[in-house]
Amino acid sequence: MTRTGNPAPPAAPLSSGTIHRHVVWGAAITALGGLLFGYDTGVISGALLFIGKDFHGLTSFDKELLTSILLIGALAGALAAGKIADRVGRRPTVLGTAALFVAGVMLAAFSPSYAVLVGARVVIGLAVGSASMVVPLYIGEVAPPRVRGALVSFNQLAITSGILVSYLVDYGLSSSQNWRLMFGLAAVPAILMFTGMLFQHESPHWLVAQGREDEARKVLHRVRGEADIDAEIAEVRELSERNSSFREVLSPAVRHVMIIGVTLAVFQQITGINTIIYYAPTLLKSAGLGSSAALLANVVNGAVNVAMTIVAIRLLDRTGRRPLLLGGTAGMAAGMVVVALTFLLGGDQLHGGTAYIAIAGLLIYTGSFAIGLGPVFWLLISEIYPVKIRGQAMSVATMANWGANFVVTISFLTLLGAIGNAGTFFLFGGLSIVAVVYFQRQVPETRNRSLQDIERELGLPRGAIADTAAQVPAQVPEPDV
Ligand code: BGC
Repeated sequence: MTRTGNPAPPAAPLSSGTIHRHVVWGAAITALGGLLFGYDTGVISGALLFIGKDFHGLTSFDKELLTSILLIGALAGALAAGKIADRVGRRPTVLGTAALFVAGVMLAAFSPSYAVLVGARVVIGLAVGSASMVVPLYIGEVAPPRVRGALVSFNQLAITSGILVSYLVDYGLSSSQNWRLMFGLAAVPAILMFTGMLFQHESPHWLVAQGREDEARKVLHRVRGEADIDAEIAEVRELSERNSSFREVLSPAVRHVMIIGVTLAVFQQITGINTIIYYAPTLLKSAGLGSSAALLANVVNGAVNVAMTIVAIRLLDRTGRRPLLLGGTAGMAAGMVVVALTFLLGGDQLHGGTAYIAIAGLLIYTGSFAIGLGPVFWLLISEIYPVKIRGQAMSVATMANWGANFVVTISFLTLLGAIGNAGTFFLFGGLSIVAVVYFQRQVPETRNRSLQDIERELGLPRGAIADTAAQVPAQVPEPDV
């Protein structure tokens, strides 16, 4: 294992079509982790209705615990996965995550008691948290810069598809009340992910960071073809030769990108997306809609989420990240204001036309999230950190995301009680406007740049990370506007 040792003779170059296929397959297999993330967070809404028939006497708190304990597991999973991915590699981490998914969903499907089911939700949460950071990390490092935005955002497409599939499965199995199968079906994509990943390569950037350049060269040859592999290896090597302890995540030179990632994470959640994803049917029912109308509106909302994510994937590498982030978040504010005004003017019981206006507001909000803050958050945190600490730095942002998700989810119903429907949605709208202002000032454009260029441009000059004593000032480049 050498840093500069003789390069292994490269395998025969592949045609660009084949290269594309390799990268796309890698992205698709790992994105099954996103599908499981979406499915496992979404499935509980329907399953909750039927768990009580096997485990009698469950209180509301028992149900809330079952829902939100997954988010705590996810927080811990994101923390552990970053360290593991930097230490043992991205590929084994994906494999371990898939195995954990299989174990968790099987335990849930066969749980003999409520306590075991809670334990199973923790295990699933660990896997969800781990997948949520290691999937964008892996895809971001394997993808060529010009299509990185689209490929990393496969993950967000998978998350939204997972949520939609879970709504449909819940709906389809509701007549049989088979909540065990609702959980258990997730074993299928988990097994596919494990098997598919066995045939994938380790991330070339991680290999270089470990000094395993011969292996990195082989992988790059497969996924980049004839492109300038030596230059890419030299760049990643140069950047990764800097120090690598977790303390660097908090060093002055890295702090500004850490703050951008964590703030994006928190804004993605405190602007309210999961209050809609988890509670829309409950909300619409309490506003006077019938059950089936509320469930139908929910499925439409899930479909809009998927459709607009596809639009985002087509645009991210063309228009760039910033226009979608800014426009999308402004659209979220507009959608929330429509919902809030409907409740303010129409009262908490919606009738006829006002119900449709509220649903339209929800769809504008979800569609705008899906085109901007949804995919862009996960994409940017795979792009803005230095290679040597990328796994750990992504963990921090991902944990912030799960932590904020937990706080919002656990307090939403209380918030509705305290400041009412209109007040709550005005609050989310207002926070979306604050987010737009912050993004406008702080978030850099990363379109069509190599991860190495981004690392340089984000003001991490040579030695800056190691030299905390020198207090190298961090520079954020002028955002492209
Ligand atoms: C968020 C999740 C959310 C999902 C909705 C993701 O980007 O991180 O919290 O449930 O989008 O589509």
